[in-house]
Amino acid sequence: MIVSPSPSASSVAQELRPSLGALAPRIALVLGSGLGALADEIADSVRIPFGDIPGFRVARVAGHSGALVAGRLGGVEVLALAGRVHMYEGWSAEDAAFPIRVAHALGARTLFVSNAAGAMNRFFEPGSLMAIDDHINLMWTNPLAGPVVSGDQRFPDMSEPYDAALRAELHGAALDVGVSLADGVYAGLLGPTYETPAEVRMLQRLGADAVGMSTVPEVIVARSVGMRVAGISFITNAASGSTGAPLTHADVLEITARAGGRFRDLVRNWVARVA
Ligand code: HPA
Repeated sequence: MIVSPSPSASSVAQELRPSLGALAPRIALVLGSGLGALADEIADSVRIPFGDIPGFRVARVAGHSGALVAGRLGGVEVLALAGRVHMYEGWSAEDAAFPIRVAHALGARTLFVSNAAGAMNRFFEPGSLMAIDDHINLMWTNPLAGPVVSGDQRFPDMSEPYDAALRAELHGAALDVGVSLADGVYAGLLGPTYETPAEVRMLQRLGADAVGMSTVPEVIVARSVGMRVAGISFITNAASGSTGAPLTHADVLEITARAGGRFRDLVRNWVARVA
């Protein structure tokens, strides 16, 4: 059975297109917790709150402003999704990934995803950046579960979820702007609880370098519709339980505010490279 989500991404794209005017961005950027400030640098921008877009759910978490911002970043046309909805708010995996379908329907073929993440790799310091080279879906669901959405494949290949060439450009950009950038595996968990010490040990044994509560549904849908994907985890904290102090969302936002400039420099440079 082939179905379309209701409303379909293409009908939503059709509705949005007049607001975008002559803009036809090929690059979409998902800006995660505390990382939305990059959207403020987008010139000649059109900003549409998620709440005004049919089919979009509304972000309810501090640090996720929740707007589609289209315009030019360093002269390159981009479509930014500033903020995202999370499954721990009660939305489905398909809800979480729907904006990716709309970005694709609007013509984006390259997707950059970002998130705030905890370090599972003991060498990762808070404030550092990790290029995502693979992920582990530990959300116990999948946005493609259910009837096949029109345009999707039933069994999408996931042997290269994050595009090697786009990741190489992330490393090139990191060198250009003088930011150190590791590679690593992102584990996506449902949340909203942070991890227990036993879960941290489990994730480390599974090969996770970073852990967070997003991104995986978006990347699965992007691959299913044929977009190329690159991603960065902004490491906001050491593994929960490892410092002796409880972990809070305020800590996560504080470090993105303090060290977010490096992230923005890197993404700006990367966009210029892949344009
Ligand atoms: N665990 C899960 N999600 C997170 C973390 C963490 O330590 N930090 C930021 N998002």
